[in-house]
Amino acid sequence: MSRFMDKVIIITGAAGGIGKEVARRLASEGAKLTLVDVNEEAIENMVSELQLQEDNVLVVKADVSKEQDVKNYVEKTVEKFGQIDGFANNAGVEGPAKPLEELTEKDFDFVYNINVKGALFGIKYVLPVMKKQKRGSIVNTSSVAGLIGSPGMVLYNSSKHALMGINKVAAIEAADYNVRVNTVNPGVINTRMMRQIEANVAPGSAEAARAAYNEAVPMKRYGEPQEVANVIVFLLSDEASYVSSSSYTVDGGLFNM
Ligand SMILES: NC(=O)c1ccc[n+]([C@@H]2O[C@H](COP(=O)([O-])OP(=O)(O)OC[C@H]3O[C@@H](n4cnc5c(N)ncnc54)[C@H](O)[C@@H]3O)[C@@H](O)[C@H]2O)c1
Repeated sequence: MSRFMDKVIIITGAAGGIGKEVARRLASEGAKLTLVDVNEEAIENMVSELQLQEDNVLVVKADVSKEQDVKNYVEKTVEKFGQIDGFANNAGVEGPAKPLEELTEKDFDFVYNINVKGALFGIKYVLPVMKKQKRGSIVNTSSVAGLIGSPGMVLYNSSKHALMGINKVAAIEAADYNVRVNTVNPGVINTRMMRQIEANVAPGSAEAARAAYNEAVPMKRYGEPQEVANVIVFLLSDEASYVSSSSYTVDGGLFNM
């Protein structure tokens, strides 16, 4: 299948568990990719692992919490490829696990600057390019945490709720320009992030936390990053041509049980 032949897609958080699987799928279907991450070494390793050719890939080290970095990855993409067909707005951090009343301003700024400001400013700079082209698809990686509350995770949960609001506004503002904006809302997925959350919520007994998460999911297992990538790639594709302002849970039935 070559649904993405010569399409240009930006992926943020590209070196992470989910981002890398999105990149793998898109590359296998002919896309040209801008891979954005704060961890440059990890993206460089990924470029060789996925055997991406220089003509088809642009690596940009960026901290999405900095507006100038965001502006730069968008400008560099247009400079190299001349267009942006899709944007997997995926970089995110879990932040600390602690009761709400123990949070510090530093905790707040860290999580919100990446998960909210970073995602919003990504759309701010990608959208004008897509509007001009009169086509494009933006997929924001929110979370089941953007739909429910989890004790000890107020910053992560509320930042992912904020992204749901950003998604709705962006979808309306973009609709007239044939630009679609959707969220994917993963549940518990086997990546570094869940390993860290398990350790944070149950220091010294991450295994027990993992078992409890497994038990909580109706399908009784974690999802794999490929299973989230499948949905992101669908939303980026023309097969989702009438899907906008929607949210797709990928969570083994967790949210709707
Ligand atoms: N793993 C899960 O269970 C799960 C569930 C729901 C939602 N999500 C969301 O999926 C997205 C991807 O998460 P993942 O599971 O692949 O985690 P991950 O930790 O494997 O990947 C996150 C990536 O984002 C990058 N990143 C972090 N801060 C950045 C910054 N300031 N600028 C640029 N890049 C930055 C990291 O270097 C990393 O490569 C995140 O938005 C996360 O909140 C994950």
